[in-house]
Amino acid sequence: MVERGYADIVLIDIIEGLPQGKALDILESAPILNFDTHIIGTNSYQETANSDVVIITSGTGRKPGMTRDELLLTNVKIITEVTHNVVNHSPNGIIIVVTNPVDAMTHLAIHSSHFPRNRVFGLSGVLDSTRFSSFIATELNVSVKDVSVCVLGQHGKNMVVIPRLSTVGGTPITKLLPQETIDKLVERTINGGAEIVNLLKTCSAFYAPSAAVARMVDAVILDKKEVLPCATYLQGEYGIKDTVISVPVKLGKSGIERIIELELTDEEKQALTTSAEAVQELVKTMKLSKPNIKHTARG
Ligand code: LAC
Repeated sequence: MVERGYADIVLIDIIEGLPQGKALDILESAPILNFDTHIIGTNSYQETANSDVVIITSGTGRKPGMTRDELLLTNVKIITEVTHNVVNHSPNGIIIVVTNPVDAMTHLAIHSSHFPRNRVFGLSGVLDSTRFSSFIATELNVSVKDVSVCVLGQHGKNMVVIPRLSTVGGTPITKLLPQETIDKLVERTINGGAEIVNLLKTCSAFYAPSAAVARMVDAVILDKKEVLPCATYLQGEYGIKDTVISVPVKLGKSGIERIIELELTDEEKQALTTSAEAVQELVKTMKLSKPNIKHTARG
């Protein structure tokens, strides 16, 4: 993001020296990569004060064999504390949650921040979509630029991949690939994170998630009004209430500026409802008090 040249970056971590070392290393690449924006590392929230956008990635990550949901209880404590610090230092910021299980963690960040829902959303659909797009482009030997996909729902096993609305140069992939191949690519997308965890063994993916978050930040900081699928707190849209799942939204300088309601088939709607129910189960496990969310989820 610092290479994009539109914003100064502060990296923060609880480990002493780590964010400072990373930031310095990145800063020293500036003369070669040609950016004049600044990056610093810190262990203190004071240096993050008045950030326009805060990306929360704190928490434990997955190891091979683990699901994202298994991280829930460890990450609840961390995200609650981090969110309070973010709110205290950047009361007008936009929060993008990356920590898993991201739908539940985004719900928690809205709850803990008391921010309106347009200012707190999560990374999921952009990452899941870039995975599906890259698999389609490879399979059909076409440019990734021509691929446009539709991936909604939970960032996890209840992800809702919609081949009917996924196209190459305007033609739905259902007309370009046999069903069996589509099923294989969909399955690979749903397990996209785990496939990488299994290869890396000690951690999860970096490059595609970071590219995906950077794209979301571009849309916000540059006020692009871009339609991107994000983990979004729904209040009746798609017939789903008080639940965070990924749906397409218009992102601009106010964060989520509009929630796009696609016309789905009954089967797709049902899949989205099942996805929402899976997230609701996780949220129940967190045992949050109800009133906060009601109070916060405006806009
Ligand atoms: C993944 C993590 C970021 O899917 O959830 O790689």
